[in-house]
Amino acid sequence: MAKPLRIALTKGRLEQQTIALMEKVGLDCQSLREKGRRLILPLPDAGAQVVLAKAADVITYVENGVCDMGIVGKDTILESSSSLYELLDLGFGRCRFALAVKQGVDFFQGYAPKTIATKYPRIARSYFESQSMDVSVVKIEGSVELAPLLGLADGIVDIVETGATLRENGLEVSRWIFDISARLVVNIASLKLRKEEIESLVNRLEQGLGQ
Ligand code: PRP
Repeated sequence: MAKPLRIALTKGRLEQQTIALMEKVGLDCQSLREKGRRLILPLPDAGAQVVLAKAADVITYVENGVCDMGIVGKDTILESSSSLYELLDLGFGRCRFALAVKQGVDFFQGYAPKTIATKYPRIARSYFESQSMDVSVVKIEGSVELAPLLGLADGIVDIVETGATLRENGLEVSRWIFDISARLVVNIASLKLRKEEIESLVNRLEQGLGQ
């Protein structure tokens, strides 16, 4: 029997929206809906398996070819400097990157050196380079909103979805940076070796997006 196509899917926010899209195009996702603690689930109609992983690991598995395709946010792709093909903008998982500060603070005022906390140091550095600003960047693993509140940083570069986390913690957007959404990525060798299977699945998903 042919090896199943492996699709690495980012656990959490993108998971349910991906399942909804796959069901919309008629794929049986029962195993994903009843996954329990299992991490590799069959997607029988597509001759595929879904591998549930953290976002950065989706890139690692696809880049190394142990998964053929992946579904992951553009934020993670940009932060990773990976060599993957992006085949489809899935349109969901929409968020915006922003520079945020404590309410009422003018980040750009004064000449004192500034510190930024972020889960995305590469994106943050590239943004401030584009502004010709020299800032120190501190990598934080999560709940990055804490850093300015605790006095570790003057601002954060982070994704904003509803804005609730900023609002409820006394922070506000100083600058919008760019928009992101979920992307379907593919391993470059898989795209050559399993072109037909991949294209057929991608076309099917694309039709679901258009409906
Ligand atoms: C993300 C992001 C913000 C929050 C934004 O964090 O880093 O903290 O969501 O969403 P909102 O605008 O809808 O409030 P996530 O929930 O992924 O958790 P983490 O900070 O622990 O990584």
